[in-house]
Amino acid sequence: MVSFKKLKIIAVLSAFIFTGIAAVKQPVNDTFKNLQVLPKNITADSLDKVMTGFNLSLGVECNNCHVFNKELYRMVFDKDDKPEKEIARNMMRMTIDINNNYFQFNETVTVVQVQAVNCYTCHKGKQIPDKEKKVEINTPFMFKNN
Ligand code: HEC
Ligand code: HEC
Repeated sequence: MVSFKKLKIIAVLSAFIFTGIAAVKQPVNDTFKNLQVLPKNITADSLDKVMTGFNLSLGVECNNCHVFNKELYRMVFDKDDKPEKEIARNMMRMTIDINNNYFQFNETVTVVQVQAVNCYTCHKGKQIPDKEKKVEINTPFMFKNN
């Protein structure tokens, strides 16, 4: 079995901590306007960590998912103008489901503290995981029994 200490380290190292945030009571934050997956009362600091984690995991900058408004001359983070943002939301939902449904740790260290699977697990710093190898390893992992 994996020790509590080890799990704790993994939890600390994990940049993908958003489900854990929901468990902690925090002051209501109305800074963010369009959160559909992350907790709406997330602190600016926690949101920043999640977003930085996306950048590092996918090897991209903020503008991969967010748009720059030329008139306002600034990034408008609440707008959903780039398809990448909606894909990222679905990836977040998928990652949460994987952790919640297929990783059980124990009563003291719950899956909300430990993200066994995160964006980096698949993306490894690339926008599209191992695109160049996709054809070579395009082997199904499930087969019809006939
Ligand atoms: C891989 C895509 C992706 C990258 C890269 C990314 N974001 Fe995000 N960002 C999202 C998604 C998706 C949401 C909405 C999450 C939700 O609906 O809960 C979001 C939401 C936000 C919000 C909240 C906006 C609001 O008011 O609703 C801010 C602020 C933000 N991002 C800033 C950043 C910054 C700063 C960076 C770069 C350090 C960054 N993001 C990089 C996907 C990304
Ligand atoms: C189980 C593996 C896996 C995990 C975990 C995962 N992704 Fe992905 N993601 C993929 C694959 C595979 C693709 C490419 C799909 C394709 O080829 O159309 C992809 C594509 C994407 C894209 C679209 C890239 C593009 O330019 O077309 C975005 C954005 C993205 N993922 C964001 C995320 C974020 C953010 C996370 C963490 C919340 C995440 N992914 C977690 C496997 C994963």
